[in-house]
Amino acid sequence: MRILVTGGAGFIGSHVVDRFVERGHEVAVLDNLSSGFRALVNPAARLYEADLTDAAAVERCFAEFRPELVDHHAAQIDVRRSVDDPVFDAGTNIVAALGLLQASPATASASSSTPRPAERSTARAGSCRRPRRTRSTPSRPTA
Ligand SMILES: NC(=O)c1ccc[n+]([C@@H]2O[C@H](COP(=O)([O-])OP(=O)(O)OC[C@H]3O[C@@H](n4cnc5c(N)ncnc54)[C@H](O)[C@@H]3O)[C@@H](O)[C@H]2O)c1
Repeated sequence: MRILVTGGAGFIGSHVVDRFVERGHEVAVLDNLSSGFRALVNPAARLYEADLTDAAAVERCFAEFRPELVDHHAAQIDVRRSVDDPVFDAGTNIVAALGLLQASPATASASSSTPRPAERSTARAGSCRRPRRTRSTPSRPTA
């Protein structure tokens, strides 16, 4: 399977890339190397050195590599920066993540296989279910 790992030059992403490569997948990494390292990128993986906030670069990567699965680990992880500059933080951690999801259907129309965007960051998208409320559900749970 062709798997695109964002943040694949970072701590978590680089280990994930190594496992995918070990299992025989074709892997590409999209990373701007802001906190990651080129040396951490598995030599079998193709590196797209690009910023997630650069929609054109993300689209180019999708058009060229045509990922079947996207595993998203790129993030602005500096807590102090997120407080000092929340707009920058949201640009990477929220807006760019949405851009990735938007880029995925473009791949679907360009290829016969179906892309499966996967979000593996701290906030997991797409699998959230509210617990069902009934008459006996306490409105203010105590424990
Ligand atoms: N490290 C942990 O213990 C831990 C625990 C739980 C969750 N997480 C989550 O895992 C994710 C990755 O964390 P990490 O510890 O590997 O961080 P990291 O900083 O090592 O990796 C993040 C990677 O994203 C890249 N990146 C940042 N902004 C980018 C952008 N705009 N465009 C392209 N690439 C960009 C960086 O260059 C880096 O390679 C984060 O969402 C983090 O919250 C990490």
